[in-house]
Amino acid sequence: MRIGVPAQQSNDELRVAITPDVAKRLIAAGHELIVEFGAGTKAGYPDDQYRDVGAAVTTAEDVWNCDFVTTIERPAPSNLDPSVVVVGMIAPFDDPDEMISLAATGATIFALEAVPRTSRAQTVDALSSQAAVAGYQAVLEAAAASDRFFPMLTTAAGTIRPSKVVVLGAGVAGLQAIATARRLGAVVSAFDVRSAAAEQVESLGASFITVETEPQDASDSGGYAREVEADQQERIIAGLAPYIVDADAVITTAAIPGRPAPLLITEDTVRAMRPGAVIVDISASTGGNCELTRPGETIDVDGVLIIGETDLVSRVANHASQMYARNVMAFIELITDPDSNELRLDYSDDIVDGACIARGGAIVHPRLLPEEGS
Ligand code: NAI
Repeated sequence: MRIGVPAQQSNDELRVAITPDVAKRLIAAGHELIVEFGAGTKAGYPDDQYRDVGAAVTTAEDVWNCDFVTTIERPAPSNLDPSVVVVGMIAPFDDPDEMISLAATGATIFALEAVPRTSRAQTVDALSSQAAVAGYQAVLEAAAASDRFFPMLTTAAGTIRPSKVVVLGAGVAGLQAIATARRLGAVVSAFDVRSAAAEQVESLGASFITVETEPQDASDSGGYAREVEADQQERIIAGLAPYIVDADAVITTAAIPGRPAPLLITEDTVRAMRPGAVIVDISASTGGNCELTRPGETIDVDGVLIIGETDLVSRVANHASQMYARNVMAFIELITDPDSNELRLDYSDDIVDGACIARGGAIVHPRLLPEEGS
């Protein structure tokens, strides 16, 4: 199969979908790799590294003429030919109209965000790999912006107490944030609406914050969070406030699939924090967990910094690309015939079927189709 790797169009996007190491493996497996000039440069993978492993480095036009193209961003419909198969992180549920224009091109479009989150799908789960990067980087941003050390320091100039870090949402990003803050020596506490998260939080050496709510488990049947009732949400906000006010840094990661991010930190709570404290809101792009977060910006509210930057993953572009490329390689293995290396789209496979957003000119993903009877 001819695999195309375009350069990303957005200035904030530094990652590349296939790294030279993965290109080498795919070429060894019998595929052809066609990489756009400069595609990996911003992630620390210059063109020569692709040439050295046998990839062709060429124009965008050649890339988009391949049978299969893998990207990170959503592709422009003008690039898509009906015969192309595209896989990327295309945020399919954020902008249904955009998905309709992509589908209208006739291309076959897969979104890695739509892969079912089963054990078997873990190797292709780019949401998880990239969330782990975001959780790590958020803590580094907080530590760099903070006016305090994270670890305890015992020096001739006295003993410095460790910073207190609060992590809200203990999914993939939150757990990585906890682990990173712990490695930096901070005292960490964390909260999640899923009671099952408590054990994972504690296993990382953090304490789990318990908030008095009506007894209920805010998990759905698949183990994911669902929205809690408004009165419960009020209790959560109030219950978390004293921990947030007392924190030196807060990392917020709470999200509900397909919904705006839940509000967990109000303006009043921010104004009660100490000047010099930092909030890094990983959920900024879906509205933020803090009332004052501005997506893509860092703001100063009476000395409290609220970091709503949406390019955290790109700030670790080299390793983030490495992880993403492994996810893509695992996906390619699922959609190719191991003997001929040609495309073999088997929609009876739940991962292939679950990730397919559009084919044959139409949207096919159930979450994007009008509900029956409506
Ligand atoms: P996510 O990014 O959708 O959400 C992040 C976290 O926010 C979740 O832990 C969620 O419970 C929490 N949250 C939602 N509303 C909240 C609120 N009001 N207050 C506080 N926290 C709130 O979730 P992510 O990280 O993508 O996945 C979370 C779950 O999925 C975990 O159980 C994880 O183990 C599971 N998972 C399973 C995978 C697999 O089996 N392949 C792969 C990835 C995740």
